[in-house]
Amino acid sequence: MTATPPRTFHVKSFGCQMNVYDGERMAELLTAEGMRAADEGSAADLVVLNTCHIREKATEKVYSDIGRIVKDGREAGAVPLIAVAGCVAQAEGEEIMARAPSVRVVVGPQAYHHLPAMVAQAAAGGRATETDMPAEAKFAALPKRRKVGASAFLTVQEGCDKFCTYCVVPYTRGAELSRPWADLVSEARALVEGGAREITLLGQNVNAWSGEDDKGRKVGLAGLAEELAKIDELARIRYTTSHPMDMDDALIEAHGLNPKLMPFLHLPVQSGSDRVLKAMNRSHTAAGYLRILERVRAARPDIALSGDFIVGFPGETEAEFGETLQIVAEARYAQAFSFKFSARPGTPAATMGGQIASEVMDDRLQRLIAALQRDSLAFNKASVGTRCEVLVERKGRHAGQWLGKSPWLQSVHFTGDAALGDLVEVDLVEAGPNSMGGRLVARAAA
Ligand code: SAH
Ligand code: SF4
Ligand code: F3S
Repeated sequence: MTATPPRTFHVKSFGCQMNVYDGERMAELLTAEGMRAADEGSAADLVVLNTCHIREKATEKVYSDIGRIVKDGREAGAVPLIAVAGCVAQAEGEEIMARAPSVRVVVGPQAYHHLPAMVAQAAAGGRATETDMPAEAKFAALPKRRKVGASAFLTVQEGCDKFCTYCVVPYTRGAELSRPWADLVSEARALVEGGAREITLLGQNVNAWSGEDDKGRKVGLAGLAEELAKIDELARIRYTTSHPMDMDDALIEAHGLNPKLMPFLHLPVQSGSDRVLKAMNRSHTAAGYLRILERVRAARPDIALSGDFIVGFPGETEAEFGETLQIVAEARYAQAFSFKFSARPGTPAATMGGQIASEVMDDRLQRLIAALQRDSLAFNKASVGTRCEVLVERKGRHAGQWLGKSPWLQSVHFTGDAALGDLVEVDLVEAGPNSMGGRLVARAAA
């Protein structure tokens, strides 16, 4: 147990981009309390595990991480104060407290603005749990944002009311909630003042965001993106993750109208079989989904599409899996994520008949990945010869090398005279399945 209040901290985030955003906000909260982020690789007085519950593997990782932190701490002579945050904290808070006595704080995703007070309580010898979903605004209690990277996240919407039958998110993140327009516009300005050139708007169903603009008119995500595009120094706007049912006309059209809205859309479909989609409670058909893609492509012909897939949903037959391969062939994704179905406690799908053997899922996953890789390589090869802007995000491994993103979210590496946060002009000259080689044309005016 820590006798004195912690002075240094590590926040480790797992799972989705929203968890990354939350992790950054927790770090800001702790910094505002006078604590300091420990150097990479060195021990800290406080470790915050910001966890993910989406699949069984992600959840198991929490317990092995706790064990390792305790073991390393004992060997080094001081066990840090451990706090578990995020979606596992929400779903299994009591169990964590019972199973892992070394955990002193459990805090859910809607309560982390209380983290500093809870840490203080734990440092004084107690244990603290908060997994309520309080009505009071978490966001309003967070400190103003400071220095950020060239590409920043901004949570605009949280929670989910869709209740897909396999998914824990509606339980761990609660009901859909849209943050108010004015708060988002001012947070976006603060991010840009702090150095961001690109903002990715985040939400579990980000395109379900709705609000009222400064004139009291009802607006959706397209309207918000239009307002953010007025911030001069902001060059790029992205958003993720979208649900097909919330892809409204205005947002589809925005891809053709808003020049700062990047030509990229992550729109998960999960399966190509209408029977499976129904059992998943996805409320759209395969054909309905493809029609949306068609309309988005009409608005923005060069758009790069991305999706998520689950193989081995209970009852999925080989023929139904074949329909997933079929929709993949028709959609021509630039990139995509695919997962084996994981039975999550408390979700309807976990107890459905026809659970699929792990080996069958492995085989389907391999075939799906092969198809998706074929398509991402094809997409990348087709962009060889294109001149585009790249936002420089990191230094590369080699001297003078830089890594950045194309408008289509491809990772691009190139060498030459550039700096972090620059938008540079690059010719795409080489294609791999996961990245592009570029040649620097010009360093754009800052
Ligand atoms: N709100 C988003 C994404 C939520 S989770 C959406 O609706 O698209 C991210 C992805 O994890 C999902 O798109 C799905 O493909 C996958 N996923 C969610 N629950 C899962 C489970 N029980 N087993 C396997 N994959 C799952
Ligand atoms: Fe989960 Fe479905 Fe909600 Fe996405 S839309 S978070 S997959 S319940
Ligand atoms: Fe995981 Fe929670 Fe995100 S379960 S994917 S961290 S919303």
